[in-house]
Amino acid sequence: MSQTLDTSVDIREEILRWKEKRNAVILAHNYQIPEIQDIADYVGDSLGLAFHAQETDADVIAFCGVHFMAETAKIVNPKKTVILPDANAGCSLEESCQPEDLAAFLKENEEKNYYVITYINSSAAVKALSDVICTSGNAVQIVEAAPKDRPILFAPDQNLGEWVSRQTGREMEYWEGNCYLHVEFTRESISRIKEEYPDAAVVAHPECTKAVRLLADEVCSTEKMVHYCRDCEAENIIVVTEAGMLHRLRKECPDKNLIAGPTDRCACADCRFMKLNTMEKLLSCLKTLEPEVTMDEAERAAAEAPLQLMLDLSKTPAWDQRFLGLFDRCTEKYQGGNTDFNTYFTDVDLELLESIGYRTRELFDFVEDLQDYGEPSREMALRVATVRRAYYIDEMERQAGKNTVLPSDLPERGDELSGIAWLPRILTKARGKLRGELDPDIMYGCGGDRKFLAEHGLDMADFLRAVWRAEGADDPDQAMVDYVKSASA
Ligand code: 13P
Ligand code: SF4
Repeated sequence: MSQTLDTSVDIREEILRWKEKRNAVILAHNYQIPEIQDIADYVGDSLGLAFHAQETDADVIAFCGVHFMAETAKIVNPKKTVILPDANAGCSLEESCQPEDLAAFLKENEEKNYYVITYINSSAAVKALSDVICTSGNAVQIVEAAPKDRPILFAPDQNLGEWVSRQTGREMEYWEGNCYLHVEFTRESISRIKEEYPDAAVVAHPECTKAVRLLADEVCSTEKMVHYCRDCEAENIIVVTEAGMLHRLRKECPDKNLIAGPTDRCACADCRFMKLNTMEKLLSCLKTLEPEVTMDEAERAAAEAPLQLMLDLSKTPAWDQRFLGLFDRCTEKYQGGNTDFNTYFTDVDLELLESIGYRTRELFDFVEDLQDYGEPSREMALRVATVRRAYYIDEMERQAGKNTVLPSDLPERGDELSGIAWLPRILTKARGKLRGELDPDIMYGCGGDRKFLAEHGLDMADFLRAVWRAEGADDPDQAMVDYVKSASA
């Protein structure tokens, strides 16, 4: 009788045997093939992997991801032997920013005194030229912590940079780089799959182009995608990132139908670098301890400082996470029948709201409307708070507004500006909202505002930011008329 050998079981066992022999830990990125994810001690995004690499007490780190990730592990934990299955597992973002080019650019522009924020998808030599590193999971937090009096150079992912700039309201200059894979998702390819699943939610990685990000309900790092899919009410979720992510998501969210976002060329997207790693190569590197990540100590130390700064800044939960946590706690109280929002907040909550220029009633109005009318979403509440916070910090230098916009100050509902009804009213509210000067009985983003915004194809966070931008125009009212008309067109 012929017997079929299940080699996958053999290789799994061999890997586990060698892992023990080497006292190794296997760290794997969310894009790795299913077999590698299933055998790894930890699977996560670049940020989680960097933390795990720093904390491990194993002698050997077998890093299943791409080279810059393994190199990062070595930078933060130099005494360990760091090996990777395939030394050719590079990254198009890393390639797009060569250290000589960045050094030359910084020298040429020395007088600008750039604060250089570099995406972790870069070489150790490029990291060494940076002030701080970020990942897609903490980029907002890192940009917000950047000194206000220095211009930011964001390298090397322009798409991530533009997304963070929009989140934080912080202008910056970009290094021209991108992820070859994420830019293959297009407005057309994602619109087509959305037509197929009209009720699906869309989650996209910030390395995608703006045209794709605009179609997404949520834009976030691979690890945050796990949380988003778990919490999302939609059953169908289109996932716009590298296809390996689907394995992790299907394990973590078994009740969801997770659909791989297609590119224009294919039904799913594999990163040619991430997919160089195989079980055979993992076994081989554990056996031979090669390829091993090595680097010049001076360069390692220079790269460690901005990386360590990133890790330190990431330990404090970012204000946005705290805001969403508070939003959820308020929602629970409201659902439990308590409508007296004055009883909702602890001193710590009040401190958080004060630090972003927010008042308790503003948060409560969003909680209440979401429960009673199904909108605006908690994510929209966060995006509005993001604009308000940026304005409070940048324009008001964290000082509370001195005036109050009263209900009697609001233009009538039917008042028009250049023939656009409701615009005078929402503009007055938006200006008051930006300055934190709205009377508690006025809600920016109430049902009437939402109807107006929907009719003109706008959203309330973007509108608020446009009002802010228009403050710099010769005629702010006219700038807003133009903005609304161009959105409607
Ligand atoms: P994450 O840090 O979100 O996992 O992203 C890494 C990456 O390379 C995305 O292409
Ligand atoms: Fe680099 Fe893109 Fe691959 Fe991520 S998916 S490792 S950014 S090439």
